[in-house]
Amino acid sequence: MLTIEDLHVRYGGIHAVQGVSIAIPRGRIVTLIGANGAGKSSAIRAVAGLARGASGKVLYRRKEGGREEQLLGMPPENMVRRGISLCPEGRRILPQLTVEENLRLGAYARDDDDGIAADLEGCYELFPRLRERKWQKGGTLSGGEQQMLAVARSLMSSPDLLMLDEPSLGLAPLLVKEIFRTIVRINAAGRTILLVEQNALAALSVAHYGYVLEVGRAVMAAPAKELLNNPRVRAAYLGG
Ligand SMILES: Nc1ncnc2c1ncn2[C@@H]1O[C@H](COP(=O)(O)OP(=O)(O)OP(=O)(O)O)[C@@H](O)[C@H]1O
Ligand SMILES: [Mg+2]
Repeated sequence: MLTIEDLHVRYGGIHAVQGVSIAIPRGRIVTLIGANGAGKSSAIRAVAGLARGASGKVLYRRKEGGREEQLLGMPPENMVRRGISLCPEGRRILPQLTVEENLRLGAYARDDDDGIAADLEGCYELFPRLRERKWQKGGTLSGGEQQMLAVARSLMSSPDLLMLDEPSLGLAPLLVKEIFRTIVRINAAGRTILLVEQNALAALSVAHYGYVLEVGRAVMAAPAKELLNNPRVRAAYLGG
């Protein structure tokens, strides 16, 4: 569905992503794991059109048998229109708006009111806590609830490809479990997922395929189960 070829991201003199290639097959969960500063966010942001100093290729075929497009260089709003949604690192919700207003913002590019209503209901089914708090201001939600809101909002554009940047960051273990269970449900409902995570154990446990990023390079790529059993991965990312 999406193929990243020889991606480079530079910030002035910093070469954050140094020739990364990643394949994301339709219907799968692909995860990108790696330490702080490995270049995970830079890579995912480049795909979303948010990294100015990016070069390489991002090839995307929205529908099976459809036309393949090169996305790199397109503005971010084009990605949303093509069915790609990014849930950025650090819960960028709008604190002054209610939960429901935040969710409706995620559907800003749509005009199918029935579809929006159905997806809103879908979000509340996925995250019952958000339904209970739909009139509450985003800024008054707990950290975990804000993270759920951020994920739910990125679903409101009804993406074919959902990219999540560290959805488990700062969550208590129980909520981490809940958010990963939800990711599996989102995938089972037919959405392809690119998951960036520092929580390698949780990410590899739900993903089909994984890439390990080290200082801007993909040093390993394998089915997630293989990475879970790989001694090097275990030592470096899974606490031995
Ligand atoms: N806007 C920027 N300007 C300059 N350098 C940047 C910028 N964004 C990221 N970097 C640098 O690029 C490198 C990769 O950062 P990136 O955020 O992609 O890493 P990451 O793998 O997502 O890390 P983390 O797990 O901490 O989120 C880091 O050295 C970082 O300091
Ligand atoms: Mg990051």
